[in-house]
Amino acid sequence: MKTPNLVDARKRTCSKVDIIRNFKIDESLKNIGKNKKYVVKTYGCQMNERDSENICAILEEMGFTKGLDIEDADLVLLNTCAIRENAHNKVFGMLGRLKHIKESRPLLIGLCGCMAQEEVVVSEIMSRHKYVDFVFGTHNIHELPNILKRVIDNNKQEIEVWSKEGDIVEDIPIKRESKFKAWVNIMYGCDKFCTYCIVPYTRGKQRSRLKEDIIKEVEELVKEGYKEVTLLGQNVNAYGKDIEGYNYNMANLLSDVAKTGIERIKFVTSHPWDFTDDMISVIRDNPNVLPYIHLPVQSGSNRILKLMGRKYTRESYLELVHKLKMNIPNICLTTDIIVGFPNETDEDFNDTLSIVKECEYDSAYTFIYSPRVGTPASKMEDNISLEIKEKRLQELNDLVNYYSRKSNEKLENKVVSVLLDSKSEKEGMLSGYTTTNKLVNVKADISLLGKIVNVKITSVKTWSLDGEIYE
Ligand code: 5AD
Ligand code: SF4
Repeated sequence: MKTPNLVDARKRTCSKVDIIRNFKIDESLKNIGKNKKYVVKTYGCQMNERDSENICAILEEMGFTKGLDIEDADLVLLNTCAIRENAHNKVFGMLGRLKHIKESRPLLIGLCGCMAQEEVVVSEIMSRHKYVDFVFGTHNIHELPNILKRVIDNNKQEIEVWSKEGDIVEDIPIKRESKFKAWVNIMYGCDKFCTYCIVPYTRGKQRSRLKEDIIKEVEELVKEGYKEVTLLGQNVNAYGKDIEGYNYNMANLLSDVAKTGIERIKFVTSHPWDFTDDMISVIRDNPNVLPYIHLPVQSGSNRILKLMGRKYTRESYLELVHKLKMNIPNICLTTDIIVGFPNETDEDFNDTLSIVKECEYDSAYTFIYSPRVGTPASKMEDNISLEIKEKRLQELNDLVNYYSRKSNEKLENKVVSVLLDSKSEKEGMLSGYTTTNKLVNVKADISLLGKIVNVKITSVKTWSLDGEIYE
Protein backbone atom coordinates (compact mmCIF):
# COMPACT_ATOMS: atom_id res chain seq x y z
CA MET A 1 0.00 0.00 0.00
CA LYS A 2 1.22 3.49 -0.79
CA THR A 3 -0.07 6.07 1.66
CA PRO A 4 0.99 9.70 1.79
CA ASN A 5 2.89 11.24 4.63
CA LEU A 6 1.12 14.49 5.43
CA VAL A 7 4.07 16.17 7.08
CA ASP A 8 6.46 15.46 4.22
CA ALA A 9 4.07 16.88 1.63
CA ARG A 10 5.23 20.40 2.47
CA LYS A 11 8.78 19.58 1.51
CA ARG A 12 7.81 18.12 -1.82
CA THR A 13 10.00 18.91 -4.75
CA CYS A 14 8.59 20.14 -8.02
CA SER A 15 8.72 16.82 -9.82
CA LYS A 16 7.76 16.75 -13.47
CA VAL A 17 4.04 16.62 -14.23
CA ASP A 18 3.24 13.68 -16.49
CA ILE A 19 0.15 13.94 -18.65
CA ILE A 20 -1.43 10.56 -19.16
CA ARG A 21 -3.56 10.45 -22.31
CA ASN A 22 -5.82 8.05 -24.15
CA PHE A 23 -7.17 6.45 -21.00
CA LYS A 24 -8.92 3.22 -22.00
CA ILE A 25 -10.71 0.56 -19.99
CA ASP A 26 -9.51 -2.91 -20.90
CA GLU A 27 -12.16 -4.85 -22.86
CA SER A 28 -11.90 -7.71 -20.36
CA LEU A 29 -13.12 -5.40 -17.57
CA LYS A 30 -16.19 -4.13 -19.37
CA ASN A 31 -18.60 -6.81 -18.14
CA ILE A 32 -17.68 -6.75 -14.48
CA GLY A 33 -20.72 -4.69 -13.52
CA LYS A 34 -23.26 -6.44 -15.73
CA ASN A 35 -26.70 -6.60 -14.02
CA LYS A 36 -25.31 -4.70 -11.04
CA LYS A 37 -26.32 -1.28 -9.76
CA TYR A 38 -24.02 1.36 -8.33
CA VAL A 39 -24.52 4.43 -6.16
CA VAL A 40 -21.83 7.08 -5.76
CA LYS A 41 -22.35 9.37 -2.77
CA THR A 42 -20.41 12.61 -3.06
CA TYR A 43 -19.40 14.76 -0.11
CA GLY A 44 -17.69 18.18 -0.15
CA CYS A 45 -16.74 20.58 -2.88
CA GLN A 46 -17.24 20.93 -6.64
CA MET A 47 -13.91 19.21 -7.21
CA ASN A 48 -15.40 16.04 -5.75
CA GLU A 49 -18.63 16.52 -7.73
CA ARG A 50 -16.51 16.70 -10.85
CA ASP A 51 -14.48 13.60 -9.91
CA SER A 52 -17.73 11.71 -9.32
CA GLU A 53 -18.76 12.50 -12.90
CA ASN A 54 -15.65 10.58 -14.01
CA ILE A 55 -16.18 7.78 -11.50
CA CYS A 56 -19.80 7.23 -12.63
CA ALA A 57 -18.74 7.11 -16.28
CA ILE A 58 -16.00 4.57 -15.52
CA LEU A 59 -18.46 2.37 -13.62
CA GLU A 60 -20.96 2.56 -16.47
CA GLU A 61 -18.28 1.60 -18.99
CA MET A 62 -17.68 -1.42 -16.78
CA GLY A 63 -21.32 -2.44 -17.20
CA PHE A 64 -22.80 -1.08 -13.95
CA THR A 65 -26.06 0.88 -14.08
CA LYS A 66 -26.97 3.73 -11.79
CA GLY A 67 -29.08 2.71 -8.78
CA LEU A 68 -31.63 4.94 -7.13
CA ASP A 69 -30.35 4.64 -3.58
CA ILE A 70 -28.09 2.58 -1.36
CA GLU A 71 -30.90 0.18 -0.51
CA ASP A 72 -30.99 -1.21 -4.05
CA ALA A 73 -27.29 -0.92 -4.91
CA ASP A 74 -24.75 -3.71 -5.40
CA LEU A 75 -21.88 -1.26 -5.11
CA VAL A 76 -21.75 1.91 -3.01
CA LEU A 77 -18.78 4.23 -3.36
CA LEU A 78 -18.30 7.17 -0.98
CA ASN A 79 -16.39 10.05 -2.55
CA THR A 80 -15.30 11.79 0.62
CA CYS A 81 -14.29 15.21 1.92
CA ALA A 82 -11.69 15.83 4.61
CA ILE A 83 -11.96 19.58 5.05
CA ARG A 84 -13.67 19.56 8.44
CA GLU A 85 -14.36 17.06 11.19
CA ASN A 86 -18.12 16.98 10.49
CA ALA A 87 -17.55 15.86 6.87
CA HIS A 88 -15.41 13.09 8.29
CA ASN A 89 -18.06 12.04 10.82
CA LYS A 90 -20.78 11.92 8.18
CA VAL A 91 -18.74 9.42 6.16
CA PHE A 92 -18.10 7.14 9.13
CA GLY A 93 -21.83 7.36 9.96
CA MET A 94 -22.67 6.27 6.41
CA LEU A 95 -20.14 3.42 6.59
CA GLY A 96 -21.99 2.16 9.68
CA ARG A 97 -25.26 2.08 7.70
CA LEU A 98 -23.60 0.28 4.81
CA LYS A 99 -22.08 -2.30 7.17
CA HIS A 100 -25.55 -3.01 8.49
CA ILE A 101 -26.93 -3.54 4.94
CA LYS A 102 -23.98 -5.77 4.06
CA GLU A 103 -24.79 -8.05 6.99
CA SER A 104 -27.97 -9.14 5.22
CA ARG A 105 -26.91 -9.28 1.54
CA PRO A 106 -23.86 -8.97 -0.74
CA LEU A 107 -22.66 -5.37 -1.15
CA LEU A 108 -19.41 -3.91 -2.41
CA ILE A 109 -18.34 -0.88 -0.40
CA GLY A 110 -15.68 1.57 -1.59
CA LEU A 111 -14.21 4.80 -0.28
CA CYS A 112 -12.31 7.39 -2.30
CA GLY A 113 -11.67 11.15 -2.35
CA CYS A 114 -9.84 13.33 0.14
CA MET A 115 -10.30 11.19 3.26
CA ALA A 116 -8.65 8.32 1.42
CA GLN A 117 -5.49 10.43 1.22
CA GLU A 118 -5.32 10.69 5.02
CA GLU A 119 -3.07 8.13 6.65
CA VAL A 120 -5.16 8.07 9.84
CA VAL A 121 -8.30 7.23 7.88
CA VAL A 122 -6.67 4.46 5.89
CA SER A 123 -5.25 2.91 9.06
CA GLU A 124 -8.67 3.03 10.67
CA ILE A 125 -10.34 1.42 7.65
CA MET A 126 -7.72 -1.34 7.64
CA SER A 127 -8.01 -2.10 11.32
CA ARG A 128 -11.63 -1.36 12.24
CA HIS A 129 -13.66 -1.35 9.03
CA LYS A 130 -12.65 -4.57 7.29
CA TYR A 131 -16.06 -4.74 5.59
CA VAL A 132 -14.94 -1.84 3.34
CA ASP A 133 -13.86 -3.63 0.15
CA PHE A 134 -11.70 -1.01 -1.49
CA VAL A 135 -10.09 2.38 -1.04
CA PHE A 136 -8.43 4.58 -3.65
CA GLY A 137 -7.22 8.18 -3.54
CA THR A 138 -7.54 11.40 -5.48
CA HIS A 139 -4.52 10.66 -7.70
CA ASN A 140 -5.53 7.26 -9.04
CA ILE A 141 -9.20 7.49 -10.02
CA HIS A 142 -8.21 6.09 -13.41
CA GLU A 143 -7.09 2.89 -11.65
CA LEU A 144 -10.65 2.13 -10.51
CA PRO A 145 -11.29 -0.61 -13.13
CA ASN A 146 -8.17 -2.55 -12.11
CA ILE A 147 -8.85 -2.07 -8.41
CA LEU A 148 -12.41 -3.36 -8.77
CA LYS A 149 -11.21 -6.36 -10.76
CA ARG A 150 -8.82 -7.29 -7.96
CA VAL A 151 -11.53 -6.83 -5.32
CA ILE A 152 -13.83 -9.21 -7.17
CA ASP A 153 -11.11 -11.76 -8.04
CA ASN A 154 -9.36 -11.87 -4.67
CA ASN A 155 -12.26 -11.18 -2.33
CA LYS A 156 -10.07 -9.25 0.10
CA GLN A 157 -9.71 -5.59 1.06
CA GLU A 158 -7.87 -3.58 -1.65
CA ILE A 159 -6.20 -0.33 -0.62
CA GLU A 160 -4.44 1.65 -3.32
CA VAL A 161 -3.69 5.25 -2.46
CA TRP A 162 -0.95 7.06 -4.35
CA SER A 163 1.21 9.66 -2.75
CA LYS A 164 2.65 10.48 -6.19
CA GLU A 165 0.94 13.67 -7.13
CA GLY A 166 2.61 14.71 -10.33
CA ASP A 167 0.16 13.40 -12.89
CA ILE A 168 -2.72 14.80 -14.87
CA VAL A 169 -4.89 12.18 -16.49
CA GLU A 170 -6.73 13.39 -19.58
CA ASP A 171 -9.49 11.59 -21.47
CA ILE A 172 -11.15 9.87 -18.50
CA PRO A 173 -14.75 9.20 -19.56
CA ILE A 174 -17.30 11.55 -18.07
CA LYS A 175 -21.01 11.42 -17.30
CA ARG A 176 -21.99 15.02 -16.63
CA GLU A 177 -24.71 15.71 -14.08
CA SER A 178 -26.24 18.50 -16.18
CA LYS A 179 -26.87 18.92 -19.90
CA PHE A 180 -26.64 22.70 -19.64
CA LYS A 181 -23.81 23.58 -17.30
CA ALA A 182 -20.50 21.84 -16.87
CA TRP A 183 -17.54 21.81 -14.51
CA VAL A 184 -14.20 22.10 -16.30
CA ASN A 185 -11.06 21.45 -14.28
CA ILE A 186 -8.31 23.87 -15.14
CA MET A 187 -5.92 22.80 -12.42
CA TYR A 188 -5.53 20.30 -9.63
CA GLY A 189 -4.04 20.63 -6.16
CA CYS A 190 -2.90 23.69 -4.25
CA ASP A 191 0.45 25.18 -3.26
CA LYS A 192 -0.83 27.81 -0.85
CA PHE A 193 -0.58 25.80 2.38
CA CYS A 194 -2.93 27.93 4.46
CA THR A 195 -2.11 26.66 7.93
CA TYR A 196 -5.58 25.25 8.71
CA CYS A 197 -6.16 23.51 5.39
CA ILE A 198 -5.73 19.87 4.48
CA VAL A 199 -6.26 20.31 0.74
CA PRO A 200 -2.59 20.69 -0.30
CA TYR A 201 -1.97 17.31 1.36
CA THR A 202 -5.02 15.45 0.05
CA ARG A 203 -5.03 16.94 -3.46
CA GLY A 204 -1.31 17.39 -3.96
CA LYS A 205 0.73 20.13 -5.51
CA GLN A 206 -0.69 22.57 -8.02
CA ARG A 207 -0.81 21.13 -11.54
CA SER A 208 -2.37 23.19 -14.33
CA ARG A 209 -3.93 21.50 -17.32
CA LEU A 210 -2.61 22.65 -20.70
CA LYS A 211 -4.63 25.45 -22.25
CA GLU A 212 -5.21 23.40 -25.43
CA ASP A 213 -6.91 20.64 -23.43
CA ILE A 214 -9.12 23.11 -21.57
CA ILE A 215 -10.16 25.03 -24.68
CA LYS A 216 -10.86 21.78 -26.56
CA GLU A 217 -13.11 20.62 -23.71
CA VAL A 218 -15.05 23.90 -23.70
CA GLU A 219 -15.37 23.89 -27.51
CA GLU A 220 -16.84 20.40 -27.37
CA LEU A 221 -19.28 21.52 -24.67
CA VAL A 222 -20.41 24.42 -26.87
CA LYS A 223 -21.00 21.98 -29.73
CA GLU A 224 -23.04 19.75 -27.40
CA GLY A 225 -25.25 22.73 -26.53
CA TYR A 226 -23.91 23.55 -23.07
CA LYS A 227 -24.66 27.10 -21.95
CA GLU A 228 -22.33 27.50 -18.99
CA VAL A 229 -18.93 26.33 -17.81
CA THR A 230 -17.41 26.74 -14.38
CA LEU A 231 -13.63 26.67 -14.49
CA LEU A 232 -12.52 24.74 -11.43
CA GLY A 233 -9.44 24.80 -9.27
CA GLN A 234 -8.52 25.35 -5.63
CA ASN A 235 -6.79 28.56 -6.56
CA VAL A 236 -7.68 29.36 -10.17
CA ASN A 237 -5.89 32.70 -10.29
CA ALA A 238 -2.57 30.91 -10.01
CA TYR A 239 -3.36 28.99 -13.22
CA GLY A 240 -0.21 28.30 -15.25
CA LYS A 241 2.26 29.40 -12.59
CA ASP A 242 3.36 25.83 -11.93
CA ILE A 243 4.41 25.20 -15.55
CA GLU A 244 7.98 26.32 -16.09
CA GLY A 245 8.32 28.95 -18.81
CA TYR A 246 4.57 28.97 -19.48
CA ASN A 247 3.86 32.47 -20.62
CA TYR A 248 0.12 32.12 -20.19
CA ASN A 249 -1.99 32.95 -17.14
CA MET A 250 -5.57 33.00 -15.85
CA ALA A 251 -6.35 36.27 -17.63
CA ASN A 252 -5.19 34.73 -20.94
CA LEU A 253 -7.19 31.58 -20.27
CA LEU A 254 -10.39 33.45 -19.37
CA SER A 255 -10.06 35.52 -22.50
CA ASP A 256 -9.55 32.44 -24.71
CA VAL A 257 -12.41 30.54 -23.07
CA ALA A 258 -14.61 33.61 -23.69
CA LYS A 259 -13.75 33.36 -27.42
CA THR A 260 -15.19 29.83 -27.66
CA GLY A 261 -18.63 31.44 -27.64
CA ILE A 262 -19.88 29.64 -24.51
CA GLU A 263 -22.64 31.85 -23.14
CA ARG A 264 -21.59 31.88 -19.49
CA ILE A 265 -18.26 31.43 -17.77
CA LYS A 266 -17.74 31.21 -14.02
CA PHE A 267 -14.57 30.34 -12.16
CA VAL A 268 -13.91 29.16 -8.60
CA THR A 269 -12.06 29.54 -6.29
CA SER A 270 -10.02 32.75 -6.39
CA HIS A 271 -7.28 33.43 -3.87
CA PRO A 272 -6.92 37.19 -3.21
CA TRP A 273 -3.13 36.92 -3.55
CA ASP A 274 -3.12 36.05 -7.26
CA PHE A 275 -5.95 38.28 -8.52
CA THR A 276 -4.40 40.48 -11.21
CA ASP A 277 -5.54 43.71 -12.88
CA ASP A 278 -5.48 41.84 -16.20
CA MET A 279 -8.07 39.42 -14.85
CA ILE A 280 -10.27 42.27 -13.77
CA SER A 281 -10.06 43.76 -17.28
CA VAL A 282 -10.96 40.45 -18.91
CA ILE A 283 -14.01 40.05 -16.64
CA ARG A 284 -15.05 43.64 -17.33
CA ASP A 285 -14.61 43.41 -21.10
CA ASN A 286 -16.19 40.01 -21.82
CA PRO A 287 -19.94 39.83 -21.23
CA ASN A 288 -19.84 36.02 -21.13
CA VAL A 289 -17.41 36.06 -18.19
CA LEU A 290 -19.96 36.44 -15.41
CA PRO A 291 -19.56 39.23 -12.86
CA TYR A 292 -19.46 36.72 -10.03
CA ILE A 293 -16.38 36.37 -7.86
CA HIS A 294 -15.93 34.04 -4.93
CA LEU A 295 -13.08 35.58 -2.96
CA PRO A 296 -12.49 33.82 0.37
CA VAL A 297 -11.38 36.27 3.07
CA GLN A 298 -11.33 33.74 5.97
CA SER A 299 -10.83 36.48 8.61
CA GLY A 300 -10.87 40.26 8.86
CA SER A 301 -8.06 40.38 11.42
CA ASN A 302 -4.48 40.86 10.24
CA ARG A 303 -3.20 38.91 13.23
CA ILE A 304 -5.36 35.88 12.38
CA LEU A 305 -4.69 36.17 8.63
CA LYS A 306 -0.99 35.93 9.45
CA LEU A 307 -1.51 32.89 11.67
CA MET A 308 -3.57 31.36 8.86
CA GLY A 309 -0.72 31.94 6.39
CA ARG A 310 -3.05 33.73 3.98
CA LYS A 311 -0.35 36.02 2.52
CA TYR A 312 -2.51 39.17 2.35
CA THR A 313 -3.66 41.79 4.81
CA ARG A 314 -7.08 43.18 5.56
CA GLU A 315 -6.00 46.39 3.80
CA SER A 316 -4.76 44.71 0.61
CA TYR A 317 -7.91 42.55 0.48
CA LEU A 318 -10.12 45.63 0.81
CA GLU A 319 -8.12 47.41 -1.87
CA LEU A 320 -8.76 44.48 -4.23
CA VAL A 321 -12.48 44.46 -3.41
CA HIS A 322 -12.64 48.18 -4.06
CA LYS A 323 -10.95 47.72 -7.44
CA LEU A 324 -13.33 44.89 -8.35
CA LYS A 325 -16.40 46.92 -7.39
CA MET A 326 -15.18 50.00 -9.29
CA ASN A 327 -14.46 48.05 -12.47
CA ILE A 328 -17.19 45.44 -12.61
CA PRO A 329 -20.70 46.88 -12.44
CA ASN A 330 -23.27 44.73 -10.58
CA ILE A 331 -20.53 42.46 -9.31
CA CYS A 332 -21.63 39.61 -7.06
CA LEU A 333 -19.02 39.05 -4.38
CA THR A 334 -19.09 35.99 -2.14
CA THR A 335 -16.65 34.66 0.41
CA ASP A 336 -15.62 31.96 2.90
CA ILE A 337 -15.05 32.79 6.56
CA ILE A 338 -13.71 30.71 9.44
CA VAL A 339 -14.55 31.59 13.06
CA GLY A 340 -12.80 30.32 16.17
CA PHE A 341 -9.30 29.91 14.73
CA PRO A 342 -6.81 29.33 17.60
CA ASN A 343 -6.30 32.49 19.70
CA GLU A 344 -9.08 34.44 17.92
CA THR A 345 -10.05 37.21 20.36
CA ASP A 346 -13.28 39.19 20.47
CA GLU A 347 -11.35 41.99 18.82
CA ASP A 348 -10.22 39.72 15.97
CA PHE A 349 -13.77 38.51 15.51
CA ASN A 350 -15.03 42.11 15.45
CA ASP A 351 -12.55 42.74 12.64
CA THR A 352 -14.23 39.91 10.74
CA LEU A 353 -17.66 41.42 11.32
CA SER A 354 -16.43 44.80 10.17
CA ILE A 355 -14.87 43.46 6.96
CA VAL A 356 -18.23 41.82 6.16
CA LYS A 357 -19.85 45.23 6.62
CA GLU A 358 -17.28 46.89 4.38
CA CYS A 359 -17.52 44.31 1.62
CA GLU A 360 -21.30 43.79 1.79
CA TYR A 361 -20.95 40.25 0.47
CA ASP A 362 -23.84 38.84 -1.55
CA SER A 363 -23.40 35.65 0.44
CA ALA A 364 -20.81 33.78 2.46
CA TYR A 365 -19.98 30.24 3.47
CA THR A 366 -19.18 30.39 7.15
CA PHE A 367 -17.40 27.69 9.13
CA ILE A 368 -16.30 26.86 12.64
CA TYR A 369 -12.57 26.14 12.70
CA SER A 370 -11.88 22.42 12.72
CA PRO A 371 -8.32 21.19 13.42
CA ARG A 372 -7.05 18.78 10.75
CA VAL A 373 -4.33 16.31 11.65
CA GLY A 374 -1.05 17.08 9.89
CA THR A 375 -1.72 20.77 9.22
CA PRO A 376 0.45 23.41 10.96
CA ALA A 377 -2.59 24.94 12.72
CA SER A 378 -3.43 21.60 14.34
CA LYS A 379 -0.26 22.02 16.42
CA MET A 380 -1.69 25.22 17.90
CA GLU A 381 -3.98 24.79 20.87
CA ASP A 382 -7.63 24.76 19.71
CA ASN A 383 -8.37 27.13 22.58
CA ILE A 384 -11.70 28.74 21.67
CA SER A 385 -14.58 26.95 23.36
CA LEU A 386 -17.34 25.46 21.21
CA GLU A 387 -19.79 27.76 22.96
CA ILE A 388 -17.89 30.87 21.83
CA LYS A 389 -17.33 29.44 18.34
CA GLU A 390 -21.06 28.81 17.95
CA LYS A 391 -21.97 32.23 19.30
CA ARG A 392 -19.59 33.91 16.86
CA LEU A 393 -20.90 31.82 13.97
CA GLN A 394 -24.46 32.82 14.78
CA GLU A 395 -23.60 36.50 14.99
CA LEU A 396 -21.68 36.30 11.73
CA ASN A 397 -24.48 34.42 9.96
CA ASP A 398 -27.02 37.02 11.05
CA LEU A 399 -24.87 39.75 9.55
CA VAL A 400 -24.16 37.82 6.34
CA ASN A 401 -27.88 37.10 5.93
CA TYR A 402 -28.70 40.77 6.36
CA TYR A 403 -26.45 41.64 3.41
CA SER A 404 -27.70 38.67 1.34
CA ARG A 405 -31.24 39.91 1.71
CA LYS A 406 -30.21 43.48 1.03
CA SER A 407 -28.47 42.52 -2.21
CA ASN A 408 -31.47 40.42 -3.29
CA GLU A 409 -33.83 43.30 -2.54
CA LYS A 410 -32.00 45.41 -5.11
CA LEU A 411 -33.38 43.02 -7.74
CA GLU A 412 -37.05 43.38 -6.84
CA ASN A 413 -39.09 44.26 -9.97
CA LYS A 414 -35.92 44.15 -12.08
CA VAL A 415 -35.53 42.00 -15.21
CA VAL A 416 -32.61 39.58 -15.02
CA SER A 417 -31.17 36.90 -17.27
CA VAL A 418 -31.56 33.36 -15.88
CA LEU A 419 -30.27 30.01 -17.11
CA LEU A 420 -33.14 27.66 -16.22
CA ASP A 421 -31.18 24.53 -15.37
CA SER A 422 -33.48 22.36 -13.26
CA LYS A 423 -37.00 21.60 -12.17
CA SER A 424 -37.91 23.35 -8.96
CA GLU A 425 -39.30 21.41 -6.02
CA LYS A 426 -42.54 23.29 -6.58
CA GLU A 427 -44.93 21.98 -9.26
CA GLY A 428 -44.85 23.91 -12.55
CA MET A 429 -41.72 25.83 -11.59
CA LEU A 430 -38.20 25.78 -12.99
CA SER A 431 -35.16 27.15 -11.25
CA GLY A 432 -31.88 28.61 -12.33
CA TYR A 433 -29.27 31.23 -11.68
CA THR A 434 -28.82 34.86 -12.66
CA THR A 435 -25.53 36.10 -14.10
CA THR A 436 -24.73 37.10 -10.52
CA ASN A 437 -25.32 33.58 -9.23
CA LYS A 438 -28.63 34.23 -7.48
CA LEU A 439 -31.08 31.34 -7.35
CA VAL A 440 -34.43 32.15 -8.98
CA ASN A 441 -37.63 30.07 -9.01
CA VAL A 442 -39.73 30.79 -12.04
CA LYS A 443 -43.19 29.66 -13.15
CA ALA A 444 -42.24 28.30 -16.55
CA ASP A 445 -43.05 25.61 -19.05
CA ILE A 446 -40.74 22.58 -19.03
CA SER A 447 -39.82 23.36 -22.67
CA LEU A 448 -37.76 26.27 -21.30
CA LEU A 449 -35.45 23.94 -19.37
CA GLY A 450 -31.88 24.62 -20.48
CA LYS A 451 -32.72 28.04 -21.94
CA ILE A 452 -31.44 31.45 -20.91
CA VAL A 453 -34.51 33.63 -20.41
CA ASN A 454 -35.42 37.08 -19.12
CA VAL A 455 -37.17 36.95 -15.77
CA LYS A 456 -38.90 39.71 -13.85
CA ILE A 457 -38.26 39.35 -10.12
CA THR A 458 -41.57 39.41 -8.26
CA SER A 459 -40.53 38.53 -4.73
CA VAL A 460 -37.35 38.41 -2.72
CA LYS A 461 -36.14 36.09 0.04
CA THR A 462 -32.79 35.88 1.83
CA TRP A 463 -31.42 32.97 -0.22
CA SER A 464 -33.56 32.96 -3.34
CA LEU A 465 -35.80 35.00 -5.61
CA ASP A 466 -39.14 34.33 -7.28
CA GLY A 467 -39.88 35.59 -10.73
CA GLU A 468 -41.90 35.31 -13.89
CA ILE A 469 -40.91 35.03 -17.54
CA TYR A 470 -40.57 38.49 -19.07
CA GLU A 471 -41.15 38.65 -22.81
N1 5AD B 1 -11.72 24.37 9.46
C1 5AD B 1 -12.79 25.11 9.08
N2 5AD B 1 -12.97 25.55 7.82
C2 5AD B 1 -12.02 25.21 6.91
N3 5AD B 1 -11.91 25.50 5.59
C3 5AD B 1 -10.78 24.93 5.12
N4 5AD B 1 -10.15 24.28 6.12
C4 5AD B 1 -10.90 24.43 7.24
C5 5AD B 1 -10.77 24.01 8.58
N5 5AD B 1 -9.72 23.28 8.98
C6 5AD B 1 -12.87 26.35 4.87
C7 5AD B 1 -12.19 27.59 4.29
C8 5AD B 1 -12.14 27.26 2.82
C9 5AD B 1 -13.40 26.43 2.64
C10 5AD B 1 -13.46 25.61 1.42
O1 5AD B 1 -13.41 25.62 3.80
O2 5AD B 1 -13.01 28.69 4.53
O3 5AD B 1 -12.14 28.41 2.00
FE1 SF4 C 1 -6.76 25.34 1.29
FE2 SF4 C 1 -5.63 27.77 1.25
FE3 SF4 C 1 -5.30 26.08 -0.85
FE4 SF4 C 1 -7.70 27.19 -0.40
S1 SF4 C 1 -5.80 28.31 -0.95
S2 SF4 C 1 -7.28 25.03 -0.86
S3 SF4 C 1 -7.77 27.30 1.84
S4 SF4 C 1 -4.53 25.79 1.24
